[in-house]
Amino acid sequence: MAQQTDLFKNLIAHCKEYGFIFQSSEVYDGLSAVYDYGPYGVELKNNIKSYWWSSMVQMHDNIVGIDAAIFMHPKTWKASGHVDAFNDPLIDNKDSKKRYRADVLIEEQMEKIEAKIDKEIEKARKRFGDGFDEAMYRTTNPRVMGYVEAFEAIRTRLAAAMTNGDMAELKQIIEDLEIADPESGSRNWTDVRQFNLMFSTQLGNIAGEEGKLYLRPETAQGIFVNFLNVQKTTRQKIPFGIAQIGKAFRNEIVARQFIFRMREFEQMEMQFFIRPGDQKHWYDYWKQARMKWHLALGTPQSKLRFHDHDNLAHYADAAVDVQFEFPFGFKELEGIHSRTDFDLGNHQELSGKKLQYFDPELQESYVPYVVETSIGVDRMFLAMMSNALVEEEVPGGEGSRAVLKLHPALAPVKCAILPLKRNEERIVKVAQDIFHKLKLSFNVQYDDTGSIGKLYRRQDAIGTPFCVTVDFDSLEDNTVTLRDRDTLQQERVHISQLEGIIRERVDMKQLFV
Ligand code: GAP
Repeated sequence: MAQQTDLFKNLIAHCKEYGFIFQSSEVYDGLSAVYDYGPYGVELKNNIKSYWWSSMVQMHDNIVGIDAAIFMHPKTWKASGHVDAFNDPLIDNKDSKKRYRADVLIEEQMEKIEAKIDKEIEKARKRFGDGFDEAMYRTTNPRVMGYVEAFEAIRTRLAAAMTNGDMAELKQIIEDLEIADPESGSRNWTDVRQFNLMFSTQLGNIAGEEGKLYLRPETAQGIFVNFLNVQKTTRQKIPFGIAQIGKAFRNEIVARQFIFRMREFEQMEMQFFIRPGDQKHWYDYWKQARMKWHLALGTPQSKLRFHDHDNLAHYADAAVDVQFEFPFGFKELEGIHSRTDFDLGNHQELSGKKLQYFDPELQESYVPYVVETSIGVDRMFLAMMSNALVEEEVPGGEGSRAVLKLHPALAPVKCAILPLKRNEERIVKVAQDIFHKLKLSFNVQYDDTGSIGKLYRRQDAIGTPFCVTVDFDSLEDNTVTLRDRDTLQQERVHISQLEGIIRERVDMKQLFV
């Protein structure tokens, strides 16, 4: 655990040191849970968005994109259920004056029990060696069985309390488990109450409640209210999807873990409109398709898993998370939700405008059902960074290096061009010629600000898959040294081959085949 905490701290420090992520308004000591992306951060983020967008819009002739406004008519949020039901259970500690999510306090207690189970299993594995049967041990060892039983009892109570919106029961669980404020140790809690997560602001020319606007807490509603506009203008037939990437805002009570839980973040959402009754088929389809998308990036299967929701969001009849193993454990990276006709049906009712589709095959009109895939750009960014950052010894006694083994298609810079001697005009000229040629195709960098060793380390730290070194031999035979970030292998290649070799490795195309 301590090792994982260090890993996470290193990652945050790395993000700052190498220009990936800065705390927002840092000169004023920062704004909690709001972050700015630096020069390499924005490149990685754009590449993640581009991979998602291409896989949805370019790769499917029945998915189209939109870019809706952040502000929407206030009735949108009434119809969507966010005004009444987009709440988290809030609890204050009367002594420390700290505010917590009641469900998170309980979940953290459950994680402690899980850690105890893991510890027992590890101990037994060491004791019994190769013949250890974990499944059998879990169901026969009295101590482990006791922990599992305690865990399941809490899980069941928590799920029921959350589903029923039973705030008194949440408080009771906290009291029964004797949960203390993690910071002060105090058990002096207020009652649990619902806290709406939407940020609100005021429209310029209308006073009072009438002019109350919300910053969208999900991008999906911009898609729902445009459903017919898009369907009619693109003549799509069901099943079809609408994709969107954009900012969302949530007044999170507990905003920690760096960019994992932010108050301003970005989502990539796709609503897939289907015939009522087909939801199970499309839910399974998108579950598999989204897992494939993650695995194509080389993320190990062991770091990804599905997790069915215990308590469903107010709009869903089935929901699953794709969880990723972040440095602080398996957590939600993406959600796949079967939203039925909840949103379109409610918008139709509140607006009084028909939001129906005429199905030419069935010769009837209906409100389509929707299966949604929704992933946070920032969470995907964090997943990719934590999967990629490695501290390793360089062979040949050259010390250690921090290297970001990002998939080349996501890497912020694809190739660095480095002259062996910055004072040797002929070498500099060849290097700059290569830079000007390659920049037409990729994001490349020219760098002559240090020794080659130092320049390599810097490019490793930002995840550049290739470095090209121009030396005296280059002047004779038009070849350069091409260094591979991961294998550290160096090969001599002709300058005319560079573009082709780099393209083959960094092209997003390889992720789709
Ligand atoms: N339209 C459905 C929806 O918004 P969600 O599970 O609340 O569903 C979808 O959010 C995804 O958005 C999450 O899986 C996560 O990746 C991202 N997300 C949600 N809240 C976030 C936050 N406070 N900070 C960063 N990302 C967040």
